[in-house]
Amino acid sequence: MRLCIIGTGYVGLVTGACFAEVGHTVVCVDADAKKVALLRNGGIPIYEPGLEEVVRRNVASGRLSFTGSTAEGVAASEVVFIAVPTPPQADGSVDMSYIEAVAREVAASLTAYRIIVDKSTVPVKTGEKVTETIKRYCPAGVDFDVVSNPEFLREGFAVDDLMKPDRIVVGVSSPRPVAAMRELYAPFDAPVIVTDTNSAELIKHAANSFLALKISYANALSVICDAAGANVQEVTRGMGLDNRIGTRFLNAGLGFGGSCFPKDLSAFIHISEQLGYDFRLLKEVQQINADQMVRFVKKIQDTLWVLKDKRIGVLGLAFKQNTDDVRTSPAIDLCQRLAKEGAHLRVSDPQAMEKAKALLPPSAAMEYVDDMDAVAEGCDALVIATEWPRFTQLDLARAKRSMRTPIIFDGRNLFDPAEMKRLGFIYKSVGR
Ligand SMILES: NC(=O)c1ccc[n+]([C@@H]2O[C@H](COP(=O)([O-])OP(=O)(O)OC[C@H]3O[C@@H](n4cnc5c(N)ncnc54)[C@H](O)[C@@H]3O)[C@@H](O)[C@H]2O)c1
Repeated sequence: MRLCIIGTGYVGLVTGACFAEVGHTVVCVDADAKKVALLRNGGIPIYEPGLEEVVRRNVASGRLSFTGSTAEGVAASEVVFIAVPTPPQADGSVDMSYIEAVAREVAASLTAYRIIVDKSTVPVKTGEKVTETIKRYCPAGVDFDVVSNPEFLREGFAVDDLMKPDRIVVGVSSPRPVAAMRELYAPFDAPVIVTDTNSAELIKHAANSFLALKISYANALSVICDAAGANVQEVTRGMGLDNRIGTRFLNAGLGFGGSCFPKDLSAFIHISEQLGYDFRLLKEVQQINADQMVRFVKKIQDTLWVLKDKRIGVLGLAFKQNTDDVRTSPAIDLCQRLAKEGAHLRVSDPQAMEKAKALLPPSAAMEYVDDMDAVAEGCDALVIATEWPRFTQLDLARAKRSMRTPIIFDGRNLFDPAEMKRLGFIYKSVGR
């Protein structure tokens, strides 16, 4: 099938590349002329494992191309995807201006029937608004359908998630686009849930909020485990092996961040409020997440006492492993808090250093260190802020020799406390 994806970011680019990989012809549109030029010249604007090869292969085969023109993309396609940002506003509600702008641009470009599919994460009833908007701005007599098809990919595993989804949700307000949506997803081996548009939109917010809830549950348990001298990893493992619960998303640590969970949670609380329901459960999920960072900083302060002029190595800037994304990253938040107390930071990350520089400008007190094994040099403490597997291969003997005081604060429970003790570190983690 011929597809157009409007918005070539984390979701749009990976979706476009994976659709091309299974044989569709895809044109990706982006308003950022620099991004389009970079992609046309063979560059990849984001780090995502496996993405570069898929993009290269499909550009070479002629199935994947890039343009700055929505009209060109819409003209060339049977199905038009919207994958633009839906950022949070100060009150937690969603900024819908990108979606509205794309709806108008698509409307102005319509000359014949198209299926317009929303992949961005949006409040319930957005499909109705997009339909109204397109109707208002499209030429008279042109027909279209709006479909909700939320995306569940995880950054860092996006190509795999797109190629092997758990399920595909298709929300429609008429039967007409269903056959095309099924054909589009036929190459993927996953159940397709066809439902109404409002339910499809709610599925996305309900799912992300539930995953955030699981993380906050584990973090609340970590507080109890710290106080009781128990081990949160043992507790969550013992719980999670009950297949009604599951072991995933039960990792205690610095809390969740990134461009999705915090914003989707705020959005869902706000949407619920608008619909007359005070979602207190989710407010507590937010609060537990915020408290977790405060508690971790306090743990560092309780040990190091005064942070001013302390040298602290920080491993991890990305919001999680396998990505260069630093949007709402707990690691960045932690660095900002430590810097505010006057600590001198030596930071490193396998992929996110360039993007982090916009939020944590390099200076004499904010040193970016390329060699991860050298981050601890001369430091009073080393902090693990992101769960990159690479950090488990750290040269700990070298770190210990080079540190002023051998103290590790492990915000992601990457290391074994007994092994750290054996190596001679003062080691503090979360809930263990
Ligand atoms: N990042 C994720 O892990 C993830 C997962 C699932 C769902 N989502 C949702 O998908 C949506 C997109 O997220 P993202 O992370 O890919 O965002 P992103 O910021 O990485 O990419 C969005 C892209 O849209 C482009 N854009 C903005 N306005 C445009 C316009 N009028 N025409 C063409 N291009 C335009 C931007 O230049 C940018 O390249 C959001 O609603 C997000 O909540 C994200």
